[in-house]
Amino acid sequence: MAAQNNQVIVITGASSGIGEATAKIFGEAGYRVVLAARRLDRLEALKAEIEGKGGTALAVETDVSAPGPLQALVDRTLKEYGQVDILFNNAGFGRTKWLEEMDPEKDIAAQIQVNLTGVIQATRAVLPHMIERKSGHIINMISLGGFVATPTYTVYAATKFGVRGFSDALRREVGVWNIKVSCIYPGGVSTEFGSHTEAKRKTGISTPKALLQTPEGVGRAVLDAARHPVRARILPGISRAGVLFAAAFPWAMDWLSENNFTKPERGLK
Ligand SMILES: NC(=O)c1ccc[n+]([C@@H]2O[C@H](COP(=O)([O-])OP(=O)(O)OC[C@H]3O[C@@H](n4cnc5c(N)ncnc54)[C@H](OP(=O)(O)O)[C@@H]3O)[C@@H](O)[C@H]2O)c1
Repeated sequence: MAAQNNQVIVITGASSGIGEATAKIFGEAGYRVVLAARRLDRLEALKAEIEGKGGTALAVETDVSAPGPLQALVDRTLKEYGQVDILFNNAGFGRTKWLEEMDPEKDIAAQIQVNLTGVIQATRAVLPHMIERKSGHIINMISLGGFVATPTYTVYAATKFGVRGFSDALRREVGVWNIKVSCIYPGGVSTEFGSHTEAKRKTGISTPKALLQTPEGVGRAVLDAARHPVRARILPGISRAGVLFAAAFPWAMDWLSENNFTKPERGLK
């Protein structure tokens, strides 16, 4: 039986991975959960699972790459539940290729549309309601890639650095209305993310197993951020050392990336 809470959270990218796990966790914590993504069949199955455990959920087919569906998502939520307490901007994907090999539309424009513009448009759609209530919380899913940019993640890093800048500016705009803005920065998480990257790596370099997180672990951190709003949550905590190292010694990051990744991947000495 789900706990009582009654707050409403809208989760984009709820059809798999971190979004799906987060939806289940918030459902069990008693939130009314609005599930948004393109794969409606998955959202409907998730809604049934949450409701089977005594929770409340609404599935709304949504493509975050255009403003119209995002406005429709907010309007539908307000019609059904009357309020939005939290918007969790989580939908996103990464294409890890050399920039010169990226398709201008599918790899570059689409990544920016979903990972960056989608976050901005969804937030814009919900803000008038939050300002009117003088209450609300925007939680943005970023990535360690929003602090540390690595080769083959050029466009992904651009979008995630972009969401970080957007979030900081937004926090300074809307704090006066008691609206909080939090950012989540996970390293590697075991989800379907890797199946969309189209990565072909010679070195096989990836997140060390010990640092690989579960979507449930990230979902619990999102619930914690909802209860105790923070500016930034870096996951796992030990990665803060890497973030500080990269900021303090950018020349070392250049050298390490070039020699341990770019040269062997490109087959150069
Ligand atoms: N996995 C990692 O290692 C990792 C690490 C740091 C940050 N992240 C971030 O975490 C977020 C979630 O990724 P994940 O790891 O959970 O990957 P995932 O399992 O592939 O989930 C991605 C979600 O985004 C949705 N999505 C993609 N394009 C969309 C669109 N145009 N409109 C609406 N929804 C869309 C997908 O739903 P549909 O396909 O059904 O639309 C899916 O629900 C992303 O922002 C990602 O950048 C992931």
